[in-house]
Amino acid sequence: MKLTSRLALFASGSGSNAEVIIRHFKNHPQIEVALVLTNNATAGVIERAQKLDVQTKFFTREQFRESEPILQLLREYEITHIVLAGFLLQIPTSLIQEYPSRIINIHPSLLPKFGGKGMYGMKVHEAVKQSGETETGITIHEVNEHYDDGRVLFQAKCKVEATDTPEQIARNVQALEHHHFPLVIEKWILSTK
Ligand code: GAR
Repeated sequence: MKLTSRLALFASGSGSNAEVIIRHFKNHPQIEVALVLTNNATAGVIERAQKLDVQTKFFTREQFRESEPILQLLREYEITHIVLAGFLLQIPTSLIQEYPSRIINIHPSLLPKFGGKGMYGMKVHEAVKQSGETETGITIHEVNEHYDDGRVLFQAKCKVEATDTPEQIARNVQALEHHHFPLVIEKWILSTK
């Protein structure tokens, strides 16, 4: 058993979740955020990670699909767990096989509602608004070969008021993400060490 778990974050966007995760695990005795990986060369997550002294690596969609270069990198950094924090590419089977039950994702809705291919970020909140739902929330789940489909580890809910805009819904959901995601990751890693 390794004394320290080494976490890699995959992110394609602004990286606000990556940032709260990195801050949460600074000086943690058993868990280290060792690497941030992105397929988006202009993603905000790169600057956020660098400011917090976490190594960042960029890869192309093709390298990801091929997956061997990514696997090599993860081995080189002795990564034990992977978290998708706003990552939009489908995870190749070889990666899932190398990290069985060691990859989790966050989705900004109460899955199975508003999940699946093409459902990400604001699109989810716009769909929630359109449908007239009275509540929404977040889902943290294990990753398998299908979008938004693995075993659910955690959900949290918030109300959707009739007057809420998609932007307001997004803010409420993001607050839930920032509050719960680091804590759920910590509990998950410590239970799978
Ligand atoms: C988060 O809301 C996350 O739930 C969502 O992307 C956002 C990333 O925000 N993920 C998906 O929609 C995955 N299907 P961030 O870059 O500020 O962390």
